[in-house]
Amino acid sequence: MKKVLVTYDMFREGFTELVSKYDVVFPEGRDFTYEEVLEMIPEFDVLCSMFDFPVNQELMDKGTRLKLVSNYAVGYNNIDVAYALQKGITVTNTPNPVTDPTADIALGLLLDTARRITECDRKLRTLKKEMKVGVLENLGLPLTKKTLGILGMGRIGKALCKRARACGMEVIYHNRRQLYIEEETKLGVTYVSKEELLAQSDFVSVNAPYTPETYHIIGEDELKQMKRTAILINTARGPLVDEHALVKALQAGTIHGAGLDVFEFGDYPLPELLEMDNVVLIPHIGTQTLETRIEMAEVVCQNVMGFFEGTYPVYKVLRP
Ligand code: GLV
Repeated sequence: MKKVLVTYDMFREGFTELVSKYDVVFPEGRDFTYEEVLEMIPEFDVLCSMFDFPVNQELMDKGTRLKLVSNYAVGYNNIDVAYALQKGITVTNTPNPVTDPTADIALGLLLDTARRITECDRKLRTLKKEMKVGVLENLGLPLTKKTLGILGMGRIGKALCKRARACGMEVIYHNRRQLYIEEETKLGVTYVSKEELLAQSDFVSVNAPYTPETYHIIGEDELKQMKRTAILINTARGPLVDEHALVKALQAGTIHGAGLDVFEFGDYPLPELLEMDNVVLIPHIGTQTLETRIEMAEVVCQNVMGFFEGTYPVYKVLRP
């Protein structure tokens, strides 16, 4: 019987079929530490890793039986994919379940930042009747007829595009590869260079995977190219945006605001961001619904069963 090691402590829904066929080891009450996994890995054929668990050369070298790393996420920047491929270890991810919930959160951040929803809520709670509420107070930006620039037009970018179009927005995009014209027409989007996207967009949403090429895809230069009224949205991975440069740009009024679900330096934003009313901050909740969590667990397991038995599609990561 193949042995599967799960690094994270999670409800067992979604794992039922896998558990009935494989020898699956879960941690109890807390996640396994890296050191514990390093100790156990020589016994296992499969590692089911969480998106923040480092699957590096050391671990893969110790995993002499390791055939598959089934990651619980669409992102796989926690895994040294180049090394895995070199060693013949397959890496899989969970693209479909995360697409709509992440696009929902991107649209939510966009709307919230534009219309100052969280800011007004916070002010009402803290200032109560001292809050200014006149008809020209708390003016926001409309979405209708504004331009959204999507950097990275994969599954999540396209799902966000559909939502934005439904709100009456114009959508332009930049991507490694231009979409086929039929798909562009169906989505109602226009391909532009990165420079054009930054210069023309009222909202810029980052929806690319985190790779060495996308590190600081939004840095000081890019922020300077954006409109002074622009709002930046990041629901991808923190290091895609140079967070220190973003703080400076917001302080200087180089751009207007930001909505962030992910941060460059771990789970929390730079403290300066916490002081800014024109910034909406949430702690990586893009895929945080119970339905999504269960579906992601199912896909993690289906990737394992599909890999060994051919019974399900296998979402393989094909390049670093
Ligand atoms: C969530 O951040 C994911 O990569 O699935």
